[in-house]
Amino acid sequence: MKCKVCKATAAVALRSHHAGFCPDCFLRFFSRQVERGIRSQNLFTSEDKILVALSGGKDSLSLMLELSRQGYDVTGLHIDLSIPGSSEVTRGVVERFCARHGFKLMIREMAAEGLAIPAVRARLRRPICSACGKIKRYWFNKTALDHGFTALATGHNLDDEVARLFSNTIRWDTSYLSDQGPLLQGEDGFARKVKPLWRLTEFETANYAFLMGIEHHYAPCPYSGGASFTCHKHLWQQLEEAMPGRKLDFYQGFLERGRPVFARQEAETGRALRPCARCGYPTSAEVCGVCRIREAVAENAA
Ligand code: AMP
Ligand code: FES
Ligand code: ZN
Repeated sequence: MKCKVCKATAAVALRSHHAGFCPDCFLRFFSRQVERGIRSQNLFTSEDKILVALSGGKDSLSLMLELSRQGYDVTGLHIDLSIPGSSEVTRGVVERFCARHGFKLMIREMAAEGLAIPAVRARLRRPICSACGKIKRYWFNKTALDHGFTALATGHNLDDEVARLFSNTIRWDTSYLSDQGPLLQGEDGFARKVKPLWRLTEFETANYAFLMGIEHHYAPCPYSGGASFTCHKHLWQQLEEAMPGRKLDFYQGFLERGRPVFARQEAETGRALRPCARCGYPTSAEVCGVCRIREAVAENAA
């Protein structure tokens, strides 16, 4: 197969775009897709100060590198979950990556916050993933707001987004359907959240990471059964093979025609939020979910 652009030998074949690319033309294609993703949804501009959540996986590291190459003002944020045997490895990957490229990096250590994930897990006695997700989102938001960042970026790719949209759709979860997307505007107590890789698949990001020589960490979390929405991702892979391009169509169609309808409906029924009595984070209860977890862990330790 030849490169669609320059006719050199292709290194990456993309069925959904009916095209093969040589390494240089693929990297240009990747950059253009990120650029389009940012511009078409007005995610941010070169005036913004962007905090990039770095997990140590290929998606967030690729995102950081690409945004920096495009001239954006980026700083990394890593949440160290304090899971023995796993967190040190991921943190090391993120630290080496940032040192190698001269990127600013902030680290938040959950053990120091009374939220070490093993302690939370011991206290909760139910699957840890949703509590862990809640804790991570809380620190993404808090760090961005406390340090004056104007956007918080995560490495979610098209496969992540489509699998989540599909899962919300089969449950007709209108609350999630009202605000899923690559842009969540900032409002009182919430930072603006963006997902600039929303047009790119996992396969495309993996190729970018490989071609750019990014060392990343791909061992799944020891507490989870593997990647999230694995079954939905498999289904979508089959659909995409039978109908190339359907994934992006489905997601873009939702952004244009689905989300506004759910957002209108939710605005009519949405619950009021107020600041958490302990930490000020917006919540519909007296005390926010993370402060309640922290208190439960402290009680357990006492
Ligand atoms: P996941 O839910 O693990 O697929 O992660 C989705 C995105 O959340 C990643 O691409 C990162 O941007 C961010 N993320 C996940 N875990 C962490 C972490 N421990 N520290 C910083 N960012 C994270
Ligand atoms: Fe959060 Fe595993 S429990 S990443
Ligand atoms: Zn709180």
